Amino acid sequence: MARTPSTRILPSDITPPEVFFNRRQAIAAAIAAGVVGLAHEEPAGAASSGSGLKYTRNTRYSVNEAPNSYEDITTYNNFYEFGTDKSDPVQNAGSLRTRPWSVVVDGEAEVTGTFTLEDILKPHPLEERIYRFRCVEAWSMIVPWLGFPLGDLLKRFKPTSKAKYVQFTTLYDPKQMPGQRYPILDWPYVEGLRMDEAMHPLTLMVVGVYGKVLPNQNGAPLRLIVPWKYGFKSIKSIVKISFVERQPRNTWNVATPHEYGFYANVNPAVDHPRWSQAKERRIGNGFFAKRIDTLPFNGYADQVASLYKGMDLRRYF
Ligand code: MTE
Repeated sequence: MARTPSTRILPSDITPPEVFFNRRQAIAAAIAAGVVGLAHEEPAGAASSGSGLKYTRNTRYSVNEAPNSYEDITTYNNFYEFGTDKSDPVQNAGSLRTRPWSVVVDGEAEVTGTFTLEDILKPHPLEERIYRFRCVEAWSMIVPWLGFPLGDLLKRFKPTSKAKYVQFTTLYDPKQMPGQRYPILDWPYVEGLRMDEAMHPLTLMVVGVYGKVLPNQNGAPLRLIVPWKYGFKSIKSIVKISFVERQPRNTWNVATPHEYGFYANVNPAVDHPRWSQAKERRIGNGFFAKRIDTLPFNGYADQVASLYKGMDLRRYF
C-alpha cells in the first residue's frame, strides 16, 4: 500500500519564473555548446550507458510491489498515434523526434509563452516513484517512473484565480505520428485535470522509466502520470499546457462520452458499459493468471478520495 503523503514541496525547490526564464538564453547557448547534458546525465557511480538519469528514490510515494520488467513496460503500450495494437508503439515510435522539443504554456496564468524542454525540466530534481498503473482496459502494471511533481512545474507559471482546470495536448504531426493519418481519434490527443488534481503531490510529470530516458513509445519526452486514474488520463508527448476556466473535453470522452468520462478515477464499483472494472490482469503474470482485485482509486484512496468528497462518482465517472 502507498503510505499517506504530506506536501513536501519546499520553496527552495521552485525557482521563480522570472529568474528562471531569464536564464533561457544562457542555457540554450550551453546546450548548443554541449555543456549541459540535461537528460543524459549519469547517476553518480553508474556505468556510462549514455541514457541514465540522475534521480533520488522516493519511497514515501512508492508502492511496495515488485515492478514489471522494462520489457513489459516498453513493449505493451497504448499510443494510438503509432497504431492501435499494444505492440505497434514500440515498432513505430522511432519516427518521433523528441529533440528539439518545446512546450507552449497559455491561458489563465501570469507566465505564458513557448518554452524549450530544457526550460521546463531544468529546475526540477528527478525522483523515482514506483506507482501502480491501471489501464481502463482492465490490465495493470507496476512502474518505476522518473519524474517530478506536476504542481512544482505549474506553480512556476503563476496560474490566476480563473485557472480551474489544466488542459494538456499531445504533438500533432502526422509525418512523425502515422496513426494521426487516420481518423481513429479526434487528433491531437487532449487530456485535462481539475486544478486540485493537477497540484496533488502524486501527480507526476514523467521523463524516464527504470533510470533511463523515457522511450518514445512511453510518451517521450514528457508525459503525465496520474496514478489513481485510468491510464488514458496519462497523456503522452505533451506540447501544450493550457490553464482554463471550463472543464476541458478530453479525447476519449469526445470519442465515446457514455464510456469515458472526464474524471476516470479507478473505481471497481462502477463498470465500464462493456466490461467489469472489479478485477484486473497484471501484465507479466501470464494471460491465464488469476485476476487481482482492483482497488478504489487504484489503491491511492487514502491520499486522494478527499478530492471527490460529496461527488456522485457514478455520475462523474
Ligand atoms: N497519450 C496519447 N497521446 N495517445 C494515446 O493513445 N494512450 C493512453 C495514455 N496516454 C494514449 C496516451 C492510454 S489508454 C494508456 S493505458 C497509457 O497512455 C499507456 O501508457 P504506457 O504505454 O506508458 O503504458
